[in-house]
Amino acid sequence: MHLLTGFEYSKNEYLDIIKKAIDMKNNNAKYQDTLKGKTVILMFEKPSLRTRTTFEIAAYRLGAQSVYLDLQSGDLGKRESISDYACNLSRWSHALVGRVFSQKTLEELSLKGSVPVLNALSDIYHPAQAIADYMTIYEHLNKIEGVKIAYLGDGNNVTNSLLVAASILGAHVTCFCPQGNGPDTEVFLKAQEIAKDSGSHLNVTSDISLLHDFDVVYTDTWVSMGDNTPLDDVLNKFKQYQLNKDNLNKSGAKLVMHCLPAHRGYEITDEVIDGSKSVVFDEAENRLYTHMALLHKYMQ
Ligand code: CP
Ligand code: NVA
Repeated sequence: MHLLTGFEYSKNEYLDIIKKAIDMKNNNAKYQDTLKGKTVILMFEKPSLRTRTTFEIAAYRLGAQSVYLDLQSGDLGKRESISDYACNLSRWSHALVGRVFSQKTLEELSLKGSVPVLNALSDIYHPAQAIADYMTIYEHLNKIEGVKIAYLGDGNNVTNSLLVAASILGAHVTCFCPQGNGPDTEVFLKAQEIAKDSGSHLNVTSDISLLHDFDVVYTDTWVSMGDNTPLDDVLNKFKQYQLNKDNLNKSGAKLVMHCLPAHRGYEITDEVIDGSKSVVFDEAENRLYTHMALLHKYMQ
């Protein structure tokens, strides 16, 4: 009914969405108007380039309407309760897409509303990003199961969702993070439990000397939205985890990934993000098709 964490899906459900997204990429016209007359409401408490535009365009390409609610000035839950937002919006829409400060907000929307709620990034998860990431890996490496991913930098919402999806899909993820900046412990432990069944290996280490024998290297910002710490203040802590030419060569990876926005010269260098192994804009492009697949799944 909802996509709140990414733990909701089985392996087949992940693969179905990814395969549907690939079909939508290749046969756009086939899906035109399949959501005619439907409405999705985008509730964003934080800025967005990719997620907002691709959800809006995804809705348009399926014949649906999108309504963007700018909640960046902190309105959600202030003028009226989150519960009343959910009850109202459910009466005239077919899905709610939320980018929120707190995962609890999505939970409340999903409990109080009567339409599907899709997570477009919270403090803990970014599951829609992870689906596009694994679609991109599948397109480039022709497999997901057994793919070895090194995540470098801050263990955040994007890291958590990479781990969640890996645990279900059977990919292997090692997070290279400074001590105290690893992924969310609860999410990691839950993913590790699931990984026992899928054959996925999940690790967290601060030892960058273990960065070798990977297929993919992935990074994200060292400071996420909602935290106003200047990047220069954390440079010393994170610099050995920078995705630069040296670390890329050591990793042996064939693909460089980043959810974007990139902070060039901090978590990733120009020569790596603009280099021949970078698939960051394929990843960004795939947000559109995975969002089409998600809206199709939840709003039909
Ligand atoms: N990757 C991602 O979610 O980008 P936006 O913040 O621009 O939506
Ligand atoms: N970790 C980042 C992801 C942005 C898409 C953030 O939350 O700001």
